Amino acid sequence: MPDTADLISAATSVRENAYVPYSGFKVGAAILASDGSVHVGCNVENVAYPEGTCAEAGAIAAMVASGLTCFDEAVVIADSPVPVTPCGGCRQKLLEFANEGARITMANLEGDKRDMNVSDLLPGVFDRAQMDKT
Ligand code: THU
Repeated sequence: MPDTADLISAATSVRENAYVPYSGFKVGAAILASDGSVHVGCNVENVAYPEGTCAEAGAIAAMVASGLTCFDEAVVIADSPVPVTPCGGCRQKLLEFANEGARITMANLEGDKRDMNVSDLLPGVFDRAQMDKT
């Protein structure tokens, strides 16, 4: 089973492919799905700025495209002074597919790491129970 170091390595590699002509800020993400498979993504920007997508979104899309909808661990990495944290939208996206107790590891290229439980990622998260009034 791949471990955190494997995910950091996968996220570091895919980060190189990030398409970032506007921000110059490359991000890589790797997700460990419940079956032990690893799915990666990088940020892909667009001249129409809001159309750009984050690394986490790419990794989630790759996992779902392969037929899987649950993960146990996710890593995000960038060349940042402190371990890069997922943006608000990505926190919501990650929570959609995270197993209970899933770990999110944030990292930078210097080897600094920070890790948290997915439940601490987005207090007050909007969830499907809020759509059920019965
Ligand atoms: N970015 C990500 O890919 N993931 C995040 O969680 C934070 C931000 C990207 C989006 C944009 O391409 C660049 O970083 C600068 O915001």
